[in-house]
Amino acid sequence: RTGLIALDPGYANTGSCRSAITSIDGERGILRYRGIPIEQFEHSPNFVEVAWLLIFGHLPNAREYADFSAELTACANLDEGMKHHFEGFPRAAPPMAILSAMINALSCFHPELFELEDEQRFRAAAAGLISRIRTIAAYAYRHSIGRPYIYPHPEQRYVPNFLHMMFSDPYAEYVCEPLVRDAINLVLLLHADHEQNCSTSTVRMVGSSQANLFAACAAGVCALWGPLHGGANVAVLRMLEEIHQGRITPEQYVRLAKDRDSKVRLMGFGHRVYKQFDPRAQILARVAERLLAQLGRRDPLLDIARRLEEIAREDPYFVERQLYPNVDFYSGIILRAVGIPTNMFTVMFAMGRLPGWIAHWWEQAGAGGRIARPRQLYVGPESLDYVPMDERG
Ligand code: SDX
Repeated sequence: RTGLIALDPGYANTGSCRSAITSIDGERGILRYRGIPIEQFEHSPNFVEVAWLLIFGHLPNAREYADFSAELTACANLDEGMKHHFEGFPRAAPPMAILSAMINALSCFHPELFELEDEQRFRAAAAGLISRIRTIAAYAYRHSIGRPYIYPHPEQRYVPNFLHMMFSDPYAEYVCEPLVRDAINLVLLLHADHEQNCSTSTVRMVGSSQANLFAACAAGVCALWGPLHGGANVAVLRMLEEIHQGRITPEQYVRLAKDRDSKVRLMGFGHRVYKQFDPRAQILARVAERLLAQLGRRDPLLDIARRLEEIAREDPYFVERQLYPNVDFYSGIILRAVGIPTNMFTVMFAMGRLPGWIAHWWEQAGAGGRIARPRQLYVGPESLDYVPMDERG
C-alpha cells in the first residue's frame, strides 16, 4: 500500500535512468510530482504531504498522514551528544558545511538505520532524516548567532516547529502566522524534487554503491551547495543587494551578465531543462507579492528582481538563449520576508529537496540495482613511455 516502487534504475553505464517520481516538460514548463502538477499544491500547501507522496508514491490518506506527522514529531530531537559537534564549529562556519557534516554524524547515533532491508526501517529512516534536518538547520543558525538551542515543540507541525526552533527564545515563544506557515510550506514543497538535477544524481550515484541513506544525502548537500545549483538563491540576494545599495544599476548588471569575459551571470536565471519558463519561479513570484502584501510590507529587492526580469525578457541575448527566472530567482525574497538570514537560504533548499533525495535513493538503492559506473570519451595522450627524472626537461 505504501507504493514504494524500486525500479531497475538502468543507470549503471549511461548516467541516465528510469524513474517514476517526478516528470518535467521543459518546453511547456510543466513539473509533476508522481503525476500531479505542482500548481495543484499552491492553495493548500503541505510539505509533509508532498514528502509522503514523493517517497511512497501516492497522496497519504488521513491515517497515513497522521501517523507520519506523529513520527516526524517523535523523532525531532537530536541525541544530546550531537550538540558537541555544533560547539566544535566556528560561529561563522558555512551552514551547508555544518548540515552535510551533521547528516553524516546522525548515522553514527542511529546505526539501526544503516541496514534498511525492509520498508518499515526505511520509513523510520526517512521520517528521522526529514524531521532532524530541520533541527540541525535551526541549531546551526542558533549556534551562528550565539543563542541557546530551542528544543522542538511536541505539539507544533513541521514548519511552525522549524520557525519555533529558529526564532523562539527561552521566554519568548515565536508565533507562526498561518500566512507565513503556508508560504514556507510552499517554498519547501516547490523544492522537494526535480528529477535528475546535480544533487539528486549525486544521491543516486552514492546510493548505487549501497552506501547508506545518510551518506548519500550528505553528498547531495555538498552538490547542492554550488552557486550554479542550490547556492544560486544566496547569489541572487547578493546580486539584488548590490543593485539596491546603488553600486550598479539593473541595466548595468544585465549588460555585465551578457559579457562572457565578465564571468558575471544573472543569478537565478537560466535552466538546463526549462526553455520557456520555470513553473516554480512563476508560483514563487506570486507568493512573494502575496506574502509581502499580507504582511503590509514592500521589499525593494522584489521591485529590483521584477525590473531585472523585465529587462531580460526584452533582451535578445536572454530570449535567444531561452533564459528565464528559475526556482532561485524569487525564493529568497520570501525567506527574507520571514526573517530567514541569507546564509540559510541554501539550507532551506536542502530541507525542501530532502524528500526527493530519499525517494530517489530508495528507487536506486532499494532496487538492489547495479553500481553506477558512467563511461567517458578519452581525449588524453595515447601509449607514451616513462621518462627517468634526469632525462626530463
Ligand atoms: C537549480 O537541474 C536542475 O533542475 C536544477 C534546479 C533544481 O531544482 O534542482 O532547477 C535548481 O540549480 C537552478 C539553477 C540555479 N543556478 C543559477 O541560477 C546560476 C545562473 N544560471 C546559469 O549558471 C545557468 O543558466 C545554469 C547553470 C542554470 C544552466 O547552465 P547550462 O544549461 O549549462 O547553460 P550554459 O551555462 O551552457 O549557458 C548557455 C548560454 C551561455 O552563453 P553562450 O555560450 O551561448 O554565449 O547561456 C548563457 C551562457 O553564458 N547563460 C547565461 C546565464 N545562464 C546561461 N548568461 C547570463 N546569465 C545566466 N544566468
